[in-house]
Amino acid sequence: KKIVLAYSGGLDTSIILKWLQENYDAEVICYTADVGQKIDRKKIIRNAKKLGVKNIIIENLKDIFVKDYVFPMLRGHAIYEGVYLLGTSIARPLIAKRQIATARKFGAYAVSHGSTGKGNDQVRFELGYHYFGPKVKIIAPWRIWKLNSRTDLIKYAKKNNIPIPTDKKGAPPFSIDDNLYHTSTEGKVLENPKNAAPEFLFQRTVSPEKAPNKASFITLGFKNGDLLTINGKKLSPGNLLDKLNIVAGKNGIGRVDLVENRFIGIKSRGVYETPGGTLLMSAHRAIESVTLDKETMHKKDEIMPKYAELIYNGYWYSKARFKLQKIVDLKKNKVNGSVKLKLYKGNITIISRQTESGAYSMKKVSFEENKTFNKSNVERFINFHKKKLHL
Ligand code: ARG
Ligand code: SIN
Repeated sequence: KKIVLAYSGGLDTSIILKWLQENYDAEVICYTADVGQKIDRKKIIRNAKKLGVKNIIIENLKDIFVKDYVFPMLRGHAIYEGVYLLGTSIARPLIAKRQIATARKFGAYAVSHGSTGKGNDQVRFELGYHYFGPKVKIIAPWRIWKLNSRTDLIKYAKKNNIPIPTDKKGAPPFSIDDNLYHTSTEGKVLENPKNAAPEFLFQRTVSPEKAPNKASFITLGFKNGDLLTINGKKLSPGNLLDKLNIVAGKNGIGRVDLVENRFIGIKSRGVYETPGGTLLMSAHRAIESVTLDKETMHKKDEIMPKYAELIYNGYWYSKARFKLQKIVDLKKNKVNGSVKLKLYKGNITIISRQTESGAYSMKKVSFEENKTFNKSNVERFINFHKKKLHL
């Protein structure tokens, strides 16, 4: 009998690994999805081997993650509750999918994950598991075991020789999740919303104060609604986003401090960094502004909050999300061209937009006198709307 565990090599999943071995009569297989998080392959292998694991799978999913998850979501301009770019939410479905594929490959009867019983991630993982493997058993240790506090966990780790990590200041670490799209930091001093986030917890962005005094310029080329080139150079989806993270991060772009409403009804305060994604979102809106018609743009904006909520709630693989994705993508093949942006101390400024598209007609918009727009119709247009004011 086999169980496939989503394993990060860290404290929580190492404890789970040990706990599964003690409580189930099964071989545990470790599965790590490389979605661009800070990853220490040696540590993952070392820690898993120490606990007697024979099969340790580490899979590079960076390009798939960006191409098939981040890009489609970005085309929809998904932002949850006005601020959260959904960096964690979008990675879980892919990890779940690949974990089930791994379970199939090894003939495992169960999968397991390390999300706590109070969060969103457990829902996202398990809805993903269900979509791809409705018959695969799900083991969620956080909802089963009696290790109820951080203290219990540390005791268990010490007893079993599992290394206990610390943060840059030697204290137990924050709850961090990262991938190519974002880093989220939660817990500890952040749990009280009256506390400011300490500067040292930021990982991939500098503060605007520390950003260079000279602006950076970047040109992003789009094809069929997706980023294709940076400064004219074609790169793989993963490398594109990686590059954006570096330039945007060093210019202090993409920090958000927020309190969000979790799916299960608890509030959560977090500090998120999405440098490349923030930049890409601005650029994408800018290229759509000169390539799409008003109706399509407004329809997309109208459905966006629902679309974002579905992603947040773990409904990536659902009829509802697929349906909205169709609307998002209806005219994506018209979204071609490039946007030049200026990055300066946390700010993004659009410098110029270039496209072959005819959506923006110079002739029509020009304030210079011309005959392509009939002004006499405007009076009737306004009169029509006067009547609607009191409907
Ligand atoms: N609150 C965010 C979300 O629900 C981030 C969760 C981070 N997950 C973690 N295991 N640290 O998407
Ligand atoms: C967790 O509970 O594992 C992290 C937070 C979340 O999933 O929302």
